[in-house]
Amino acid sequence: MTTTLTNEKSHQNAATIFIIFGGAGDLSWRKLFPALYSLYRSNWLPENFAIVAADRKSMNLEEYREHIRNGVETFAPQYDSSLWSCFSEKIESYLIADLSEAAFYESLKHTLEQIGTKWETKPNWIFYLAISPSLIKTVVSQIGIAQLFLAPADSRIVVEKPYGHDLKSANELDQCLGRVFKESQIFRIDHYLGKETVQNILALRFANAWWEPIWDSRYIDHVQITVAEEVGVELRGEYYEHAGALRDMVQNHMLQLLCLIAMEPPVSFDSDEIRNKKVDVLHAVRKIIPDEVHQIAVRGQYGRGWIKGKEVVAYREEPGVKSDSSTETFAAIKLFIDNWRWQNVPFYLRTGKRLAKRVTQIVVTLKPIPHQAFPARALDQWLPNRMILNIQPEESISLVFHAKIPGPVIRLSPVNLQFKYQEAFKKGSPEAYETLLRDVIIGDGTLFMRADQAQAAWSIVDPILEFWENTPPIDFPNYPAGSWGPESAQVLIAKDGKSWYEGGY
Ligand code: BG6
Repeated sequence: MTTTLTNEKSHQNAATIFIIFGGAGDLSWRKLFPALYSLYRSNWLPENFAIVAADRKSMNLEEYREHIRNGVETFAPQYDSSLWSCFSEKIESYLIADLSEAAFYESLKHTLEQIGTKWETKPNWIFYLAISPSLIKTVVSQIGIAQLFLAPADSRIVVEKPYGHDLKSANELDQCLGRVFKESQIFRIDHYLGKETVQNILALRFANAWWEPIWDSRYIDHVQITVAEEVGVELRGEYYEHAGALRDMVQNHMLQLLCLIAMEPPVSFDSDEIRNKKVDVLHAVRKIIPDEVHQIAVRGQYGRGWIKGKEVVAYREEPGVKSDSSTETFAAIKLFIDNWRWQNVPFYLRTGKRLAKRVTQIVVTLKPIPHQAFPARALDQWLPNRMILNIQPEESISLVFHAKIPGPVIRLSPVNLQFKYQEAFKKGSPEAYETLLRDVIIGDGTLFMRADQAQAAWSIVDPILEFWENTPPIDFPNYPAGSWGPESAQVLIAKDGKSWYEGGY
């Protein structure tokens, strides 16, 4: 994975054709092309690199390049028009396509072979599915029928989330992909894993001697993982109605964060070794039984409210959303990991849209000290020692501990020891997609989900999804936009004598 951890140099220069299904869609415009452009700017693309885009929208190549230029100018961190001119040449072809038609795959094959002939080499093929989930099976089957095959090491397919709708549909998707591709060729993308601050959890835990001795149930009281968003569902109401917070965020991004915090030390940075250790965590998560769902999981949906001084509509008033929708825009769950390290340490996960502020944060709270030798007057309130990993938008790690306030009497105060990425490294982090696309190009699957990982994650959330589907909520909307979610989320953690960390110490 990524810059430091692989021998990517050897693969980096392999001639590559990057084929984007859904090339005129939002994901391509906002994320994929700005990331490819940034890779080009940093000299990370192979010399022989071509992009072939396919979509149903009718455009010629020049119009398509102009559309993409606009996205790159808007979203890439440093746009430069002369660099763009060189990069745009890499967009070799735009094919107007009906993705269910066999004829399209024949012409695609012809285009790919022509590029290979021009370069006088056999390039790698990367198929990127930036398409609606309902089309994935069709496209994969057609790739199979048209025999768009190369040796497994020379071609890969990238599948975006949502990866299935539940365990059953994820398994069906695996079977469909498995008929055409080997597991090593399938790259299931979870963009959280491309974030620098997320990758740094591995460095923090396994490149340092400080934490490992206390990283278990003897010293850690509980862990909180929060992914809070200020945005609502924006223009994705139709998609979100079928997803909800649990599928959209918990099954993938949040369980991946949980794995990184809870996994055992890997023996090496081999991609399968890391993924094995992560999947072990998911397998050890205590099975949720339907009768217990109401005790360990709560859901919410935002009503009208205020975000940054602006009044915003309720979820049920958003475009594409049913006026009596039962879809949750907030979810909080409590999980246990039944292994030696984590016995009875609760992991609280919460996520929601239209919350009070945008923050992704992991808070590791230690147990109290075993004996209190300081006089009661030394401190008004004993706060637990904490490690706070700020994933975004602030990128930092803090350690909160007690220190003596200078002076003749013993008075203690919590203080904060902080590492800030920007201050330490004097440069910004690359976009997650930049890292992930480069890993796809060099064929490193470490930061991508393996089939067993995706299945194990579905097995965790499936019982909650099923229970919620069978018992429609009666109190939606139950939190105002701009708040910290429904009261039941406070109750979930307060029952255990704890509270959600909301900043400060
Ligand atoms: C996506 C979800 O996977 O992640 C979105 O589908 C969510 O609903 C987004 O807004 C959050 O990503 P980030 O990188 O902004 O935290």
